[in-house]
Amino acid sequence: MSTTHFGFESVDESDKAQRVRGVFDSVASRYDLMNDLMSMGLHRAWKAYTVMVANVGEGSKVLDIAGGTGDLALAFARKVGASGEVVHTDINEAMLRTGRDRLLDAGVVLPTLVCDAEKLPFPDNHFDVVTVAFGLRNMTHKDAALKEMNRVLKPRGKLLVLEFSKVAKPLRKAYDWYSFSVLPRLGKVVAGDDASYRYLAESIRQHPDQATLAGMMRAAGLSQVEVFNLAAGVVAIHRGVRI
Ligand SMILES: C[S@@+](CC[C@H](N)C(=O)[O-])C[C@H]1O[C@@H](n2cnc3c(N)ncnc32)[C@H](O)[C@@H]1O
Repeated sequence: MSTTHFGFESVDESDKAQRVRGVFDSVASRYDLMNDLMSMGLHRAWKAYTVMVANVGEGSKVLDIAGGTGDLALAFARKVGASGEVVHTDINEAMLRTGRDRLLDAGVVLPTLVCDAEKLPFPDNHFDVVTVAFGLRNMTHKDAALKEMNRVLKPRGKLLVLEFSKVAKPLRKAYDWYSFSVLPRLGKVVAGDDASYRYLAESIRQHPDQATLAGMMRAAGLSQVEVFNLAAGVVAIHRGVRI
């Protein structure tokens, strides 16, 4: 049996998805509030920048993977208009349900689908843009998921990965203190769950850095891979184009 990491723990590959599910089942109801508190609202700017870099027009077909509570799906729905299509997906029902309710409250009705990024239930060559925000880090087989994302894109279609990345060296000490001391305490007070926020900090450290992820995207078949560092590399957007 192969092993993988769940934060700093080594677990059987077959157990990781279940552990990740436990994290998001636990935090779903407080997810948006925690995002605003943890990032001091910055995640909104990172997502807005991702939408800008995607540069979608009216009528585009967009797939949001690991879409959670729906921030990107909502923003893309406003861009593609009535002639376009945005599909909001996630492996976790609790996250997806919270997102669907938010979208409905905003007057936006979208197809919402539970699915695993490693086995996407869409035909080849279907979407103009595929996005995954803060989701890839949680996937067991990132290479398989990236291949699936490439497969469902139309030729010249774009994949955007917004994810935590490797922060610039001068900031690392302060960032470590914030991640391992502040985040779990905040998680405990606001969401009643320090372990999930410890997992968040640990999983960020296990995630491939900018250059490694760019290489993985090329290996999955994407070309013209570009990296946009935000907040000194706290997060990065990787953009690739399907050949
Ligand atoms: C940190 S949340 C991100 C939610 C949203 N994209 C955002 O940026 O706010 C990570 C999401 O990844 C989802 N996820 C984890 N593994 C997945 C997989 N294999 N396929 C699809 N979604 C997955 C989780 O269920 C969770 O909703």
